[in-house]
Amino acid sequence: MNKQALEAIAQAMVAEGKGILAADESTGTIKKRFDNINVESTADSRRDYREMLFRTEAAMREHISGVILFDETLRQKAADGTPLAQLIADAGSMPGIKVDGGAKDLAGHAGEMVTEGLDGLRERLAEYHGLGAKFAKWRAVINIADGIPSAACLTANTHALARYASLCQEAEIVPIVEPEVIMDGSHSVERCYEVTSAALTQLYAQLAEQDVHLEGTILKPNMVVSGTAHAEQAGVQQVAEMTLDCFKKCVPEAVPGIVFLSGGQSDEDATAHLDAMNKIGGLPWKLSFSYGRALQAAPLKTWLGDAGNVADAQAAFAHRAKMNGLAAQGAWDAAMEG
Ligand code: 13P
Repeated sequence: MNKQALEAIAQAMVAEGKGILAADESTGTIKKRFDNINVESTADSRRDYREMLFRTEAAMREHISGVILFDETLRQKAADGTPLAQLIADAGSMPGIKVDGGAKDLAGHAGEMVTEGLDGLRERLAEYHGLGAKFAKWRAVINIADGIPSAACLTANTHALARYASLCQEAEIVPIVEPEVIMDGSHSVERCYEVTSAALTQLYAQLAEQDVHLEGTILKPNMVVSGTAHAEQAGVQQVAEMTLDCFKKCVPEAVPGIVFLSGGQSDEDATAHLDAMNKIGGLPWKLSFSYGRALQAAPLKTWLGDAGNVADAQAAFAHRAKMNGLAAQGAWDAAMEG
């Protein structure tokens, strides 16, 4: 393991005022996003859309430290023949790769999932390293409901995350470890806090057991929020305080950075929450973003698959990237949304 190389990548991923663009939607997920705007999902339309994002200089150069790609995108070329990963590198950002095989039903545990993809991962990581990937992502899904999550679900998912992280570091790729506690459900914010704490505690126990070098990892968690169907929704300040309280108890100081997922929050909520946490400050790790939907919803609905809308869609993406870059420094204000 080249610890220095891993640490340098992890530090660059959370450079001041920068965060990650999660553009690693699987073929099935991007089809759903395109269905919403009546665009057919083909290899070319996916390429055109993502090329548009990666060519948004104002966003990429100033606010996006890295982009998580799906396998297809890491191998794709822009319309002019430039590899898309090269476009990202040319903008001073880093290409990363989603390597998990998706969350599948956990046998014997109705309503729970376990993420697959460890078989053959060593060989895939070696290939991805050759294709220029600097970091990787593996997402575990933890649902909250009556009696859920089970101990079996937390153990299986955090064990897989640790095995994945160790393989990544062997390949000189920084692992983003993502234990996502899903916000869908009627649970309270206190219940989200409890489950997030349990997941993070187990995750760091498993990472320690597999001798993962924490300084060469990045954590991608959910925030501590109310279930979407819960009657009372925690406000911005409460989400910020409960999330930080939870993380201070569960996330070792050796971790260089925490980049949140947006998980279905509105664009502005995702920004406001991140900003509120950074305004509180005094934290041992950098706190930034690794948003998928909260960065892409605006450019997607502006683009609509029409080349004539590219400049406006790029402006919409650049705006969200800038707002989140400010939030990563605790320097955002709602009035800036215009
Ligand atoms: P969202 O920000 O849309 O939750 O996506 C981030 C991500 O990569 C989930 O794995």
